[in-house]
Amino acid sequence: MKHISILGATGSIGLSTLDVIDQHPEIFQLDTLVAHRNVDGMLALIKKFHPRSAIMTDDLAAKALLTQNTSSTTIESGMDAAIAAAKSSLSDTVVAAMVGAAGLPATLAAVTAGKDVCLANKECLVTAGRLFMDAAKKHHARIIPIDSEHAAVHQALQGHDHDSVRRIILTASGGPFRLRSVESLHNITPEEAIAHPNWAMGAKISIDSATMMNKALELIEARWLFDIAPDQLEAIIHPQSIVHAMVEYTDGNVLAQMAMPDMRAPIAYALQPHLRIHSGVAWLELAMQQDLSFFAIDVARFPAMNMVAEVMRGDDGHAVVMNAANEIANAAFRQRRIGFMDILPLVERALTDIAITPVHQLHDIWALDQHTRIKTEEFIH
Ligand SMILES: NC(=O)c1ccc[n+]([C@@H]2O[C@H](COP(=O)([O-])OP(=O)(O)OC[C@H]3O[C@@H](n4cnc5c(N)ncnc54)[C@H](OP(=O)(O)O)[C@@H]3O)[C@@H](O)[C@H]2O)c1
Repeated sequence: MKHISILGATGSIGLSTLDVIDQHPEIFQLDTLVAHRNVDGMLALIKKFHPRSAIMTDDLAAKALLTQNTSSTTIESGMDAAIAAAKSSLSDTVVAAMVGAAGLPATLAAVTAGKDVCLANKECLVTAGRLFMDAAKKHHARIIPIDSEHAAVHQALQGHDHDSVRRIILTASGGPFRLRSVESLHNITPEEAIAHPNWAMGAKISIDSATMMNKALELIEARWLFDIAPDQLEAIIHPQSIVHAMVEYTDGNVLAQMAMPDMRAPIAYALQPHLRIHSGVAWLELAMQQDLSFFAIDVARFPAMNMVAEVMRGDDGHAVVMNAANEIANAAFRQRRIGFMDILPLVERALTDIAITPVHQLHDIWALDQHTRIKTEEFIH
């Protein structure tokens, strides 16, 4: 039996994970569910899945949950409780599905406890990739990616020599605005940006997909996960989201992974790597697909691509600044404080104006992250 805790249980990945777990009561036992503020969502999960414990990282939300909970599930409060649950010996597998760099402390705690970490939270690797992967090596933690592109690469790398990899190619759908004129993007609403053509995801990652910042973050994620040089990483547009990534080997063979665009496929793979459990994902009928097409990314339309190439050439702190500025700009757009076309210039300004300090330890990363958030808010005002 695998004992599983989920960080970010009420989100899109959290709910898809629970769907897969629910299909296999003979393999999986739930330990702890962690969320931030969504009390109603957590109450519904407690009622349906009966976890041993439930944690709200927001103290007021935890108080509200405690008042309304009538089950035997233990209720706890705060990020420290989430970190303790991530480390606890009561679970062997932690699904890291909080959104943003806020997920880093608890996910890193699971890594240092030597757990199997099913990683959806890409911001962990973007902000602290070197530290995170060193800790995984030191504490014998397995990091199994949930991000569909990285899960695809993970599968295509199995049984092959690392030195024989020539290139890793991630696909990008191009998001909802791939074919819109750049001029028409100025009046985009958050609702339009969140409406992704292929994937149903949380609000932040949906907007990151529309700006292509998601692919930028994923390139950095891939760099650390697969220990690969930035110039061996590429992204291309594949509007159908059927091929999730490809690995090209030095002999000219290219291994591609395909699946319907449903996160339960990579989640099932991450929960039971190599064992291939049922996920509930629809079968891929290639004859029914009208087309599988691939295009180079237009960097004039998606400047995040040039930005990430620069960031990966620089010191590690550049990625911390890019991520934190993007989190602030993404949220400001969702709150209608800035326009869609203001997001990337704000990140660009943060990268230009903020002094990049060395980031050797977690506290260096937090200091630069927090400073960037404050400065980006100032730029917005
Ligand atoms: N969705 C996808 O298909 C997909 C695909 C690949 C990778 N990912 C990655 O997976 C992660 C989660 O994405 P998502 O789409 O599932 O996000 P989401 O639907 O917005 O869910 C986010 C989860 O994180 C919790 N959370 C939010 N802010 C928090 C904070 N400050 N502290 C602690 N917990 C917090 C939320 O709790 P409340 O509900 O209580 O606020 C919720 O449970 C992201 O890093 C994303 O890039 C997602």
